[in-house]
Amino acid sequence: MTRPRSEPLREKPAANTPVFELIDVEKTFQVPKPGRRFSRETVGLKALDGVRLRINDGASLALVGESGSGKSTLLRVLLGLDAPTDGRANYRGRPISEARSKGTEFARDVALVYQDARGSLDPRMTVGALIAEPLRHFGIVPRQEEPARVAQLLDRVGLPVDSAQRYPSGLSGGQVRRVAIARALASEPSVLVADEAVSGLDVSTQAQLLTLLRGLQQDMGLTLVFITHDLGVASYLCEKIAIMYLGRIVETGATNDVLAAPAHPYSVALRAAAPRFFEPLPEPLPGEIPSPLDLPKGCRFSTRCPSVKGDCRTRDPYLAQHGAGRSVACLHPLSDGEGLPLASDADMSSPAVAADIQNQTDTPLSRD
Ligand SMILES: Nc1ncnc2c1ncn2[C@@H]1O[C@H](COP(=O)(O)OP(=O)(O)O)[C@@H](O)[C@H]1O
Ligand code: SF4
Ligand SMILES: [Mg+2]
Repeated sequence: MTRPRSEPLREKPAANTPVFELIDVEKTFQVPKPGRRFSRETVGLKALDGVRLRINDGASLALVGESGSGKSTLLRVLLGLDAPTDGRANYRGRPISEARSKGTEFARDVALVYQDARGSLDPRMTVGALIAEPLRHFGIVPRQEEPARVAQLLDRVGLPVDSAQRYPSGLSGGQVRRVAIARALASEPSVLVADEAVSGLDVSTQAQLLTLLRGLQQDMGLTLVFITHDLGVASYLCEKIAIMYLGRIVETGATNDVLAAPAHPYSVALRAAAPRFFEPLPEPLPGEIPSPLDLPKGCRFSTRCPSVKGDCRTRDPYLAQHGAGRSVACLHPLSDGEGLPLASDADMSSPAVAADIQNQTDTPLSRD
């Protein structure tokens, strides 16, 4: 029997209640004390440190930052897979932990496209069975309607209907990602969360998948949270961007505004280092990222910041409003992209990136 698709969680939240709201969220992992391999002593590693974030219905947000900045941990908190050690993490006005524990509505509404799409698919199951699994789990359609719904979903993600009989091992990297997206869409979610969902593919396949994701987001009004290393991907897919450094959001705002005139010196460095669209982000600045177990005093970016001043080594800047719809965690934010080196003149505005993507999807390079 088909279960009701979306039994209400409780009384409807107010119309302007965000899908997700993080208020001063901290996530500390206990890790072995450095240099004490055989001791049981542990220390706290703050993967997230005072994160404030609001994601409204239908919004698209890119989470960007170097490896280790806390992007995946933030996503796990949104998914309720990691509980904050401090602060509040809400989904539609109630704690995520509570929403997750009551019925299946949260799991149905918030879908994840895994970073390792191939690893997330059982190799012994056909594509059809893989897509039918969430349909059945959430009681989306009666059994007899499953094949038709599977065919619809395959078509929606640009795969031929006869892919249903194939196994993941016979699919290309791009096709596997499409199956993972079809599986995520099967539960009819309103939120799609993706961790590096297009990385590691050839440029043409990436372009096709990005076109697909943007189409889905626009047609279905999905709320999208997308982790990426690629500023071009962020610009193309997401209206808003949050740039992370060592467990903090250091700058957030409209993607085009932030990329055109970054205000935090770390955003400037990322932007300056971004080569062309579709090229992986290199190390943006000289100097090592400090260990999260041994953060510098004051501003955590002070050991690498070209604009560092005396007070930066004693005062810890928090995310504060910086113009309309923008926030920056810096004691001396830059204005109008000042200090942006000329080497960074690659146009990352969404129209320019869209044109680049169009060129790539027209290129008959695809192994997809
Ligand atoms: N389960 C865990 N146990 C201990 N440390 C963790 C765990 N998950 C993440 N970390 C640490 O938290 C920090 C942020 O990691 P992560 O969220 O994976 O960053 P990103 O996705 O930006 O690369 C890193 O220093 C990482 O080593
Ligand atoms: S607070 Fe100081 S060190 Fe930190 S980013 Fe701003 S200018 Fe650089
Ligand atoms: Mg990660």
